[in-house]
Amino acid sequence: MQQRTLGTSGLQVSALGLGCMGLSFGLGPATETSEAIKLIRDAVERGVTFFDTAEVYGPFVNEEVVGEALAPFRKDVVIATKFGFEPDPSNDGKWTAANSKPEHIKQVVEGSLKRLKTDTIDLLYQHRVDKNTPIEETAGAVKELIQAGKVKHFGLSEAGAKTIRRAHAVQPVTALQSEYSLFWREPEESVMPTLEELGIGFVPFSPLGRGFLTGTITAQTTFAAGDIRSTLPRYNGEARDANQALVEVVGKFAEQKRAKPSQVALAWLLAQKPWIVPIPGTTKLARLEENLGGATLALSAEEVRTLNEASAAITIQGERYSEVNARLIDR
Ligand SMILES: NC(=O)c1ccc[n+]([C@@H]2O[C@H](COP(=O)([O-])OP(=O)(O)OC[C@H]3O[C@@H](n4cnc5c(N)ncnc54)[C@H](OP(=O)(O)O)[C@@H]3O)[C@@H](O)[C@H]2O)c1
Repeated sequence: MQQRTLGTSGLQVSALGLGCMGLSFGLGPATETSEAIKLIRDAVERGVTFFDTAEVYGPFVNEEVVGEALAPFRKDVVIATKFGFEPDPSNDGKWTAANSKPEHIKQVVEGSLKRLKTDTIDLLYQHRVDKNTPIEETAGAVKELIQAGKVKHFGLSEAGAKTIRRAHAVQPVTALQSEYSLFWREPEESVMPTLEELGIGFVPFSPLGRGFLTGTITAQTTFAAGDIRSTLPRYNGEARDANQALVEVVGKFAEQKRAKPSQVALAWLLAQKPWIVPIPGTTKLARLEENLGGATLALSAEEVRTLNEASAAITIQGERYSEVNARLIDR
């Protein structure tokens, strides 16, 4: 697969990575471990070299699955994981509280290294900005982990432009991982100019709009227990119905291109900037293969403009996050 470099850091990865979260967490029942391991190895065989996990996915289980799956290929792949969540006593002990204190980060990294069966994490993200810990302290802790050889690159997730600048001044940031897709284009104004200026790569998460852009979430869809989409306003009720207008735009465009909607969604992201590396997630081999086809779907400048204009003409209904998730978004 075509390679991309995240920012000016020199971190080279396949143009599309694999988001591993849904194999264990967040989108319904977990995939059986041996099947999840096989899916990840199928991705390696097809040229994917960039794998995304986090301590909180499970918690812990997803890092274990990713570690087991990638152990035989360790030197050929880039593993990204994240710290920064902990159980929240005011939310039934669910992992929705932020903690990016230096001592905590160092402890989390020791656990992640063990679960990932590795002695160094290629890319370590702060999962959410912790309003109670100055970002300089967090960046300083990651800097020490880099100096100790336990981490190679520093990343942030859902951080705002000011935080990115402050963190980058202490420890250069290799990548920002935030939601970005035809379903959520706010980063184009809020952070992408800063990323470009500072030479930081961008890793869009939920690049298929958590599946919505593929047209497989319809009025009839019911989400399984533990599927975060059941709690997100954009995916439910009248908002879901209204947002089908965007699915239609992507679907029609895909038909004209003789491609799949998933491929259009990913090709559109790749066409925005050469330092963007989306990480679509799936639990199914056929969909993995379909998604990887997005890396070779060329869109002309005119086609990108057409999609930009068509999507801009649709106002997405419903909040992106529920209140508990929204509390942790940094502006
Ligand atoms: N930093 C953060 O806070 C954060 C937040 C969310 C996600 N992430 C990362 O980003 C990765 C991707 O995001 P995501 O999983 O939320 O959303 P996504 O990649 O946009 O969509 C995944 C969903 O789409 C479905 N899907 C995938 N390919 C499909 C296809 N070709 N046709 C139809 N449906 C398809 C999957 O179902 P099947 O499994 O049934 O195919 C799954 O339900 C995650 O795995 C995680 O690593 C990070």
